[in-house]
Amino acid sequence: MGARDGLGAMPLYVNLHRIYNELAEAGVAAGAPLTPEQLFPFDQIHYHGTDAVTHAAETLQLTSESRVLEIGSGLGGPARFLAHTVGCHVTALDIQDEMHTIASDLTRRAGLAGTVTHVLGDALSYPFPDPSFDAVVSWLAIHHIPDRPRLLERLRQALRPGGWLYVEDLYARAPFKGDDVADVKHVLYGVTMTGVEEYQREVNAAGFTVVEMSEMSGPWGAFCAERAAAWKAAADRHVRVHGIETYATLEGFFTTVQRLFERGSLGGLRLLAQVPKETKTTE
Ligand SMILES: C[S@@+](CC[C@H](N)C(=O)[O-])C[C@H]1O[C@@H](n2cnc3c(N)ncnc32)[C@H](O)[C@@H]1O
Repeated sequence: MGARDGLGAMPLYVNLHRIYNELAEAGVAAGAPLTPEQLFPFDQIHYHGTDAVTHAAETLQLTSESRVLEIGSGLGGPARFLAHTVGCHVTALDIQDEMHTIASDLTRRAGLAGTVTHVLGDALSYPFPDPSFDAVVSWLAIHHIPDRPRLLERLRQALRPGGWLYVEDLYARAPFKGDDVADVKHVLYGVTMTGVEEYQREVNAAGFTVVEMSEMSGPWGAFCAERAAAWKAAADRHVRVHGIETYATLEGFFTTVQRLFERGSLGGLRLLAQVPKETKTTE
């Protein structure tokens, strides 16, 4: 998908080079090797940064033997964090060319190309290998993807019997009204936004057993309010590092997401589901 069509036009994705601005600001020369730790403050495009990924690793009891598939892997932040801290192998799938190119560059420079494999493709059509993954993980990506029942069916088929699905995602906590409808569509690129019951029904219908469905709206709303305030408070610094256009685009994005959470229409959830151990069907 081209960087500036549809999804690529979303405010969060139009200035992906801002991670290189941050590395330059930290004194890392262009193209130079770096440590994964130097990236973690900037490469996690979800809420609560690496803490959220640690929670997944602990919940899933990942080990260096685990084979993990990440859907919508962005700049590669969660995948590199898992590979670096747990040592598991992560296949990191993203649909955007530019995202994939930057993620691959950062992973190579961080010395993790042996444990993180970046793949470019659409989760609705990418040919996943034989059902071999121990876990599928995804942060803040599934609401971008149009056909969730089909996606969930494909993810179930990619998992071994007894394998796990761990998702953090946005959902419609209450019907979106007025300006919120356009903001969800164009600012969040929220293509698939349903209530939590429908979400859970689709996960079950795809053949998973839902183990946990946690409400994250409160902590995520607070995180987004703090994020917007911190961005504005450091406006001079961010304009110097990223330029006024990137600063303003992100200020608009952070403010809109904060408002959607505060209005109570936008919600967040964490899902844990498992493929049954013996009854997995083949097609
Ligand atoms: C909010 S970002 C999250 C990135 C990463 N999970 C993280 O937490 O840092 C969502 C990502 O999902 C990707 N995405 C959206 N639709 C996709 C699809 N159909 N297949 C694969 N990736 C997709 C986007 O390109 C974007 O990089």
